[in-house]
Amino acid sequence: MLKQEEFEDKYVNKIHCADCLEILKDFPDSCVDLVITSPPYNTGGKSLGYHPNSKTGDNFYDNYADNMGFEEYTAFLTRIIADCLRISRYVMWNMQLLANNRMTMFYLIEQYKQNIKDILIWNKQAVSQITGKNGTLAKGYEFVFMMGVEKGMAFSYNNFPQNGYVPNRQTWYKQESIPEHHATFPLDLPLYFIGHFSKPTDLILDPFCGSGTTCVAAKMLGRNYIGIDISEEYCEIARQRIKAVETGVPVKEQKQGQGALFEGREEEGESPTDMKFVDDFYDLYE
Ligand SMILES: C[S@@+](CC[C@H](N)C(=O)[O-])C[C@H]1O[C@@H](n2cnc3c(N)ncnc32)[C@H](O)[C@@H]1O
Repeated sequence: MLKQEEFEDKYVNKIHCADCLEILKDFPDSCVDLVITSPPYNTGGKSLGYHPNSKTGDNFYDNYADNMGFEEYTAFLTRIIADCLRISRYVMWNMQLLANNRMTMFYLIEQYKQNIKDILIWNKQAVSQITGKNGTLAKGYEFVFMMGVEKGMAFSYNNFPQNGYVPNRQTWYKQESIPEHHATFPLDLPLYFIGHFSKPTDLILDPFCGSGTTCVAAKMLGRNYIGIDISEEYCEIARQRIKAVETGVPVKEQKQGQGALFEGREEEGESPTDMKFVDDFYDLYE
């Protein structure tokens, strides 16, 4: 376990490509204010639904099989939750009930029944299994298990509005699609939890950060963040998304450099040598 100062230098406001189980061992007790995460669902490696812009084909993740047996998967999640509760005041744990994780989910509910303070229902715009196969239902919602070590259902550390109205059911739609990642959650999800359960400059951790949605939300709300993912490709996407928040330059434009400034101009009948266009270009630097 690292000392607080070493921990901050090494991990805070960075995205780390690693197995989170390895990294979390380093973290001092109570060093994080809020964990928001969505672990791999143990889908069996198959895509869960309709992804029109997908770049991963029918695979769920780029290089992660997501296909453990019950015992291995249950032990894996149990260890991570235990670590998260050791290091963080609250843990917001998003999961969807699937055939391949059903037994594990009910095991975790029993195992952590003292820690589950409330359960938020995330009502999804689109069902993730569009048609229920073999008589199973199409999936229209997910859980967020809201955990902590303090007793009872009240969150003593919070940022609630004065009227205390913070519903435990929300409808969130995914506004962005990340073609390389099938399983991102909507930005509204971490914005909601960070907004209500942390304060400016608090530290937010996502040990399965994927495309970095939690860290992007943390950055937008003036919090510090730590993101961990086992895929370097996803870590890089996360870094680019955070940079877009910091600089105001969208990821697409970061990648294209100055080329983005020319985009669409030729279709409109202009070319970089048109005088009008050249004037516009310089205007950007005045
Ligand atoms: C459900 S996705 C999280 C998506 C994220 N909420 C987002 O909005 O992009 C789960 C992520 O866990 C990552 N993962 C799987 N095993 C891991 C491990 N042992 N340590 C860290 N990340 C892991 C996968 O690469 C995947 O990106």
